[in-house]
Amino acid sequence: MYSEIIVFSGNAHRELAAKICDHLDTPIGNALVSQFSDGETRVEIRSNVRGKNVYIIQPTCPPVNHNVMESLIIIDACRRASARTITLVAPYFGYGRQERKAASRTPISAKVVADLYEAMGINRLVTVELHNSAIQGFFTNPVDHLFIKPVLTEFFQDIDQNTVVVSPDAGGVERARAMAKKWQCGLVIIDKRRDRPNESSVVHIIGDVSNKRCIIIDDIVDTGGSLVHACNALMDKGAKSVEAAITHPVLSGNAVQLINQSRLKRLVVSDTIPLSEAAQASKKIEQISVSRLLAESIIRIDKSLSISSLFQ
Ligand code: R5P
Repeated sequence: MYSEIIVFSGNAHRELAAKICDHLDTPIGNALVSQFSDGETRVEIRSNVRGKNVYIIQPTCPPVNHNVMESLIIIDACRRASARTITLVAPYFGYGRQERKAASRTPISAKVVADLYEAMGINRLVTVELHNSAIQGFFTNPVDHLFIKPVLTEFFQDIDQNTVVVSPDAGGVERARAMAKKWQCGLVIIDKRRDRPNESSVVHIIGDVSNKRCIIIDDIVDTGGSLVHACNALMDKGAKSVEAAITHPVLSGNAVQLINQSRLKRLVVSDTIPLSEAAQASKKIEQISVSRLLAESIIRIDKSLSISSLFQ
């Protein structure tokens, strides 16, 4: 039991918050997070937070804007109730893909969201597998950026000499390389081009995949287009099988159907985002939990211990 900390949850992912609190052996803080009849977010923090270190568990998964707004209003309530520190635990950082001016006259929406959290008064952000690590620099306060690597290492116990790790695009090479290094296997890179948002087409595969077990490592599976295109390209090049380990299962639109009908053998995702019923029913989708990793990080923050040592 960690008496100086208190954990609250918005409505984005109460199941994950409950698992984290189980690991911490602490009850979840009492707070009403609901809506007025016109849809405005209504929050009442009912546990005393004066002088406490508050942790708010709230990934900004769909409905993204609603969940961001809940986070902002819970943060405001805790600050006005004299919390000592406020840490937002957003295992999935929504808007993370809009992290640079990709074209003229476009916003940097990830920076907008970071500014909003800081303006409301967070002292720290804890998050998992940011789309781009540079998003840490959008915050003035510390960001503890956690990696999925230890959770994947525990899950995949059968990596052999015939396995290759695949990065589905140039932006994901660092992430895939870290897994390839850990598993001591080869790295393959897909040259993915995107003409329009949410539409992708595979152009070129760099590396040998013939008769290999391919494991695609990525941060987000959203429409499933990138994943299915990558899988097809790898199978067409003679891969023995294709699996994927993707941290954030956004799985919007008909992504689950697309994956079910694809040649993908298995998709392993984490619980940074709740799974839809369709995804839970899919025989191809398996979920692993980051709750222990998040709980351990909270303990280490509380005790001022190293977090990077979790990943070495
Ligand atoms: C893009 O750079 C990301 O790493 C993911 O590959 C992408 O967001 C997946 O999106 P979708 O599933 O819609 O193709």
